[in-house]
Amino acid sequence: MKKLILRTVGVLASLGVIGFCGLLIWLKLILPDVGKAPDIHIRANPGEVARGAYLVNNVARCMDCHSDRDMDLTAGPMTPGTMGQGGEVFDESKGLPGRFVARNITPYNLKSWTDGEIFRAITAGVTRDGKSLFPVMPFPNYGQLDSLDICAIISYIRTIPPVRKDIEDSRPDFPVNWKINTYPARPHFHPIPAQGVNAAYGKYLVLMANCAGCHGGDFSGNENFPLPTGGVVYSANITPDPECGIGSWSRDAFVARFKSYSDSSFHPAPILRDHFNSAMPWTFFSGMTVRDLSAIYTYLRTLAPVHRPAVRFVP
Ligand code: HEC
Ligand code: HEC
Repeated sequence: MKKLILRTVGVLASLGVIGFCGLLIWLKLILPDVGKAPDIHIRANPGEVARGAYLVNNVARCMDCHSDRDMDLTAGPMTPGTMGQGGEVFDESKGLPGRFVARNITPYNLKSWTDGEIFRAITAGVTRDGKSLFPVMPFPNYGQLDSLDICAIISYIRTIPPVRKDIEDSRPDFPVNWKINTYPARPHFHPIPAQGVNAAYGKYLVLMANCAGCHGGDFSGNENFPLPTGGVVYSANITPDPECGIGSWSRDAFVARFKSYSDSSFHPAPILRDHFNSAMPWTFFSGMTVRDLSAIYTYLRTLAPVHRPAVRFVP
């Protein structure tokens, strides 16, 4: 009897070890399973490059994350000359499981990548040499857009001035360093909705801008952003709740709020220690067209109102 128990335990333990090794092989050798980089050669016309410039600099937030943002000034405008150089750190202080560093996306780094390799990194989260990206880089969102917009984005980032800056590697904490290969996924593209002031196009832009990444999946806000000048700012409730959200805002007021940051009378001021500053990339988004901002407003009106007040700032 004792022998039988010992043998059973032995068999179970071996099965456990085999299963565990299988899991490790799956995690490290089989995944990420997103296929080869597509064999594409983007020959963009000036109209497509212009569309790419608009998306990269005003909508998809590429330059918001991949450039220096001066958080010592009102709303943290991007520092000229740093466009695309990378270096912004997303780490434990921002609630992330490790230290993830935005990479250099100027031709200094990407020159030798094929169009397909850049395309796969943006839409599936795998780099040229097959490494998985952590989804702080919003590839799950970009993989749901129209592939033509991704091509426009690539055609534009090929044209930006190279900035010589080497970026340290990202370092995920345990167990994310093991799990990281489970995040990349094959893209599921959707054709761009009719471009106009309608909720479908607004929804597409909100997905591209990843507003939910900061305002929460239900857009009720309260995500915290520690400021380098001291204190913590919280994202706002942008659901149509009249008291806690932006239900009482008119479309004009919504558009004007964004546009006030690109107005010639707006001059970013130095932020005093422990004073309010906004983590919302107002300056970046202020270059969006009135039509696109109006489409976003139209979409936000269709969300379920959430009656939950958002804290604004805690010094
Ligand atoms: C919220 C911040 C954020 C946004 C927005 C963002 N990225 Fe990234 N990106 C990152 C981070 C962080 C990494 C590195 C992630 C890692 O190491 O796991 C990265 C990695 C990359 C890489 C991989 C480069 C390499 O050398 O491995 C490319 C290419 C890239 N981003 C392009 C883009 C483009 C194009 C856009 C806009 C469509 C964009 N990113 C938007 C944060 C962002
Ligand atoms: C990097 C994080 C971040 C992203 C991305 C972001 N927001 Fe915000 N947003 C914030 C924070 C933080 C605040 C609160 C501070 C403030 O009011 O400026 C805010 C405030 C706002 C406000 C003001 C609400 C009020 O009651 O005054 C609106 C409107 C808004 N965001 C809309 C959007 C939309 C639409 C998008 C996507 C196109 C977006 N945000 C993307 C962080 C973000």
